[in-house]
Amino acid sequence: MNNKDLLRYSFERVEKYINSNDDNTSPVVKFKTPGELSEIFSLPVDEESASQTKFTEYIEKYLDYSVRTGNKQFLNQLYSGFNFPAFLGEVFTVVANTSMYTYEVAPVATMIEKEMINLMNSYAGYKSGDGIFVTGGSNANLVAMLSARNRVFPEGRFEGYDHNLKLKAFINEQAHYSFETAANVLGIGSKNVIKVKADKNGRLIPEELEKKLSESVSRGELPFFVAATCATTLSGAYDPIDEMAEICKKYNVWLHADGSFGGSLILSEKHRHLMKGIEKTDSFAWNPHKLMNIPLICSALLVNRKSTLYQNITDINTDYIFHDIDAVEDLGKKSIQCGRRVDAVKLWFAWKYYGKKGYRDRLDNSVAMAKYAEDIVKTHPNLELLIPRQSFTVCFRFVPSGDFDLNAFNLELRENLRKSGKSIVNYGYIGNTLALRLVIANSDVQEDDIDLFFNQLAETATSMINNKQVL
Ligand SMILES: Cc1ncc(COP(=O)(O)O)c(C=O)c1O
Repeated sequence: MNNKDLLRYSFERVEKYINSNDDNTSPVVKFKTPGELSEIFSLPVDEESASQTKFTEYIEKYLDYSVRTGNKQFLNQLYSGFNFPAFLGEVFTVVANTSMYTYEVAPVATMIEKEMINLMNSYAGYKSGDGIFVTGGSNANLVAMLSARNRVFPEGRFEGYDHNLKLKAFINEQAHYSFETAANVLGIGSKNVIKVKADKNGRLIPEELEKKLSESVSRGELPFFVAATCATTLSGAYDPIDEMAEICKKYNVWLHADGSFGGSLILSEKHRHLMKGIEKTDSFAWNPHKLMNIPLICSALLVNRKSTLYQNITDINTDYIFHDIDAVEDLGKKSIQCGRRVDAVKLWFAWKYYGKKGYRDRLDNSVAMAKYAEDIVKTHPNLELLIPRQSFTVCFRFVPSGDFDLNAFNLELRENLRKSGKSIVNYGYIGNTLALRLVIANSDVQEDDIDLFFNQLAETATSMINNKQVL
């Protein structure tokens, strides 16, 4: 193979792919079943090297059959969009491949990660805070729970978890499943994560939290961790941090803010009031790979006190790697990973490119577009808003006239839309009601894109009704 030719071909192919993100007529996905994909692709690795023609064919097919998450009709996930400067940052990061553990092998990236953590802490109001880039929001939540556990039981690092302590964690009943996984990983057990009732909009009810904490204490248990969710996964609701902080202070419990989805809202002067009290939290998970549209993965755990992250690490036999010779802290000393991707650099490139103001405007646009979508739902005769919009998410369903099983109809509608490649939107359940969940995570989405989505949805529904596909 001629690498020079291959590189030139790849540049052109990437350019073509990027341009197609703005083309609403190109499909979001060319849907194929797993069996069909196995036939299209020659998946097993061969004994001999592939020819250059075959190699470029693999590239073509990979791009052709992958979901175009940068297309503006990809409205399915809490991440989406194509962020050009961050893409460049990713490319340069990979070209200069290194690991974040030491200044020795990642001098510039270390300085950039420190700068990004300081900037993010300045938004959070953590005056002497710290932080680390992690492998995603789930892991940020895990490290936050680990930090809270080590606060009440520092010996746990060496002795393991003592069940006599009866540690209990408290989360919104609509919080992300990663908290239960974290309790599992930490040996605390998912049954010890107590779910607190949310109101009809999905926000944790502070009085219910206080009640659960007080009941727990009177049972002789040790509440050690409370999580406020900053934009719940299904409805985009923001928990009342300020009130929760008062309660946590009274019970001396760690308060974590899970902003894995909605944490970036802190950049918006208009809307950051939804995170009022964030500076009173002990830790904050913030995923720029969601609402800041940075390519996956880009995720940080911020902590309010400098010492926190160092106290999580069992630093045995690390002198082979941490030589402490460059008069700067090696970031690896506060991470539970050893090898660690450079994820801060693409964020830095993007922030430099848009500026603080640019990002503020981008976040404001996402909220404005979600409101635009909500208004369409409210005024359309066949659309029903299932929960008032809190932020970036609109939960709704299509209600055809006639006698239809609405859950089955909406599921089929979503699947037909997805398999047609026109749009992808996700769904979840509010009680027993299936809700289509439209998320405006891509800050480049404009009114035309949303109009197109609803037109395609209505067309697909109409053809289902005409064909009596679902009765
Ligand atoms: C509220 C919330 N917390 C945590 C996560 C997990 O984040 P990640 O996918 O980066 O692990 C998500 C993911 O959607 C989320 O919505």
